[in-house]
Amino acid sequence: MLPTYSLSGMTIVTPAEIIRNGRLKVEKNRIKSLQDAAKFNVELEAGTFCYPALINVHDHLRGDYLPRIGPQNGDYYLNWSYWERDLRSSPVLEERAKISVEQMYLLSAYKNLFSGVVTVNDHFPHEFNEPLIPLLPIRVINNYTLAHECSSFDLNWGDGIEIEHNRAVERGYPFITHLEEGFDKESQSGVDILEKLNCLDDHDVLIHCIGFSDQDIQRVQRAGASVAWCPASNIFMFNVTCKIQKMIAEGVNVCIGTDSTATGAVNLLEEIRFARYVYWRMYGEELDGETLVKMVTVHPARAFWMQDKIGSLEEGKYADMLCIRPRESDPYEALVSARMEDIELMVQEGTPIYGDAKYEQLFRRRECDYTTVTVQGRKMCVKGDPAGLLERVRRAVGFKKVLDYLPLDG
Ligand SMILES: [Fe+2]
Repeated sequence: MLPTYSLSGMTIVTPAEIIRNGRLKVEKNRIKSLQDAAKFNVELEAGTFCYPALINVHDHLRGDYLPRIGPQNGDYYLNWSYWERDLRSSPVLEERAKISVEQMYLLSAYKNLFSGVVTVNDHFPHEFNEPLIPLLPIRVINNYTLAHECSSFDLNWGDGIEIEHNRAVERGYPFITHLEEGFDKESQSGVDILEKLNCLDDHDVLIHCIGFSDQDIQRVQRAGASVAWCPASNIFMFNVTCKIQKMIAEGVNVCIGTDSTATGAVNLLEEIRFARYVYWRMYGEELDGETLVKMVTVHPARAFWMQDKIGSLEEGKYADMLCIRPRESDPYEALVSARMEDIELMVQEGTPIYGDAKYEQLFRRRECDYTTVTVQGRKMCVKGDPAGLLERVRRAVGFKKVLDYLPLDG
């Protein structure tokens, strides 16, 4: 029986509502109350802000290695297939091949964990990731169907667009696919293809969409489909991203994703800041903090058809929390400006998975299998053994590899 407890003393960002000096009671794996305290109460550090744990709508957990692989000599790609060509001939891939797939998945899971992410989608077919998902320290969603892309040069993942999409509708899952990641005629016909196949609806999570016309955006909005916006990856590969202002204005359910670090930002916290930077560069306006926060919480929860479980702090939902030491007084701006070292505590379904060692009692009480690490001089408890993993990776590649998404001292 999992012990009940409460957290108190923090500002709770639900994110629809801000609750100052709030309390949150956890029973089993769910939020029992946003008012009551339990007999076992943990008073958080004064000034802490508490959010729903972040959701990374799009990653490739086989590919989160560094340095990035991209176009050379100031050139940019016409479509994603040119990147695939460069990847295959890259010495980085040769180095990455020295570590096991399991180690790669663990690294990727920690990339996400150390940036406040508890839920992520791994955009690979089930047969690639199913045996690995139970080994990972965060939630990697298993209930999805997919296509790789919707063009003649896609990688033929899954059982085909129509079968995969119909399966998603029958089961209440998302149907996830890259779409219009390029500028040749075929890359830009992704929405037409989905519409012709009768597969454009609110199960769709469409990744990148940089080739969308204004009409495509309106069709996607009318269908209720979601868009995974990965600005760092788009700018790195194509020097352009989707028409994000138009998408927001039309009311598209936009979510921010990192893509893999082979092309995207180091992690989701950096991606959020990059999204704001790109928006400013494109439109000369600030993308507001509340919208950015929703793009990594409530919006992806809806995209994944998991809005009854994750994405906001409400009674009855999973107790998935991200607590930080804020750099800004505004709660939305505080999350936008948060860095890895600002994380105070993270909880997945009521069990702490990462946090300051002063909360060690909670890790023990909920029987989390944890180790301790040092992050910028601060002792932290973390689920699993990321320091041991990094050591094994360094042994495998034969030198002291540094991966910027692992904030471990030494
Ligand atoms: Fe991708």
